[in-house]
Amino acid sequence: MADLIDLRSDTVTRPTAEMRQAMAGAEVGDDVYGEDPTVKALEAEVAAMFGHEAALFCPSGSMANQIALQLLVPPGSELLCDADAHVVTYEMGAAAAYGGVTSRTWPPVGAQLDPDVVAGMVRPDGYWAVPTRAIAVEQTHNRGGGGVIPLDTLRELRRVADAGQVALHCDGARIWHAHVADGVPLANYGALFDTLSVCLSKGLGAPVGSLVVGAADRIERGRVIRKRMGGGMRQAGILAAAGRHALAHHIDRLAADHAKAARLAEAVAPFGVLATTVRTNIVPLDLTKAPLDAPTLAAAARAEGVLISVLGPHTARLVTHLDVTDAQVDQAATTLTHILRH
Ligand SMILES: Cc1ncc(COP(=O)(O)O)c(C=O)c1O
Repeated sequence: MADLIDLRSDTVTRPTAEMRQAMAGAEVGDDVYGEDPTVKALEAEVAAMFGHEAALFCPSGSMANQIALQLLVPPGSELLCDADAHVVTYEMGAAAAYGGVTSRTWPPVGAQLDPDVVAGMVRPDGYWAVPTRAIAVEQTHNRGGGGVIPLDTLRELRRVADAGQVALHCDGARIWHAHVADGVPLANYGALFDTLSVCLSKGLGAPVGSLVVGAADRIERGRVIRKRMGGGMRQAGILAAAGRHALAHHIDRLAADHAKAARLAEAVAPFGVLATTVRTNIVPLDLTKAPLDAPTLAAAARAEGVLISVLGPHTARLVTHLDVTDAQVDQAATTLTHILRH
């Protein structure tokens, strides 16, 4: 894939030379024994960034989400989320399969969340109906085109959660992008949620790693769940070092990825295929009115050396990240406009 312009996802990045150096020099120990100093340092650092007491290093964002959901939603009770949320779309039914959790969804609205709609869905504790125990939101919203939920909407949602006595989880795989796009301090987001999951391997450029963030007692229970799910890692400091490097060097630069996405959006917009306004590093394409469908566009782009994601028959996605240069973005824009024009 090295010679191709890969816009399928921000997960395709490879560690930079500096990141590899940080990994090679990492101090390590057995983290299941609680003896890896680099993992501990990463966990403390991320907890502090979000103003929470503790964090837990996990192998993937899916595992981090699912640990959080098991912490918040007891078996036989329910989670509310967007119908397009990653937790109910791409996590292979894990909430039901591992946590005995029922998921009920509101119609897909991406970042255009309406707290009143969610308020109307919360079911109280009782013996006659499945009680709601948690609400999950996604910041930024992946299938929602990288949209950013405004801080005021999240504050309103917190009031809804408090009124219904339910917990609030944030799938913050790309919360860094929201922080950069809206200038909201990470701690302001952290203050609104009982648990967050955050990813080091989407956009930040680490090869592996996500964390669950929350209160110390919760995270201790999360440690047990992680071990049960096979996520206890041994000399994981090698990976945590990559994550620490990413946090130190790759957050502010996300603004450059957002600018690249805006350039791609500007190039394809005249063809009427832009699904939403682009706020971060994701460019969602709606090809319903285009003369070609998503697989045809992707195949034609691939033949010209540009990889894009097909999300449905008429939906596609371009994602910018630290492994695509400005020149490659310009080249991809030229390729895509050429295909759309013919
Ligand atoms: C919003 C969101 N949450 C969670 C995940 C899961 O991360 P992982 O692939 O590490 O399990 C992803 C992956 O792309 C994502 O986009």
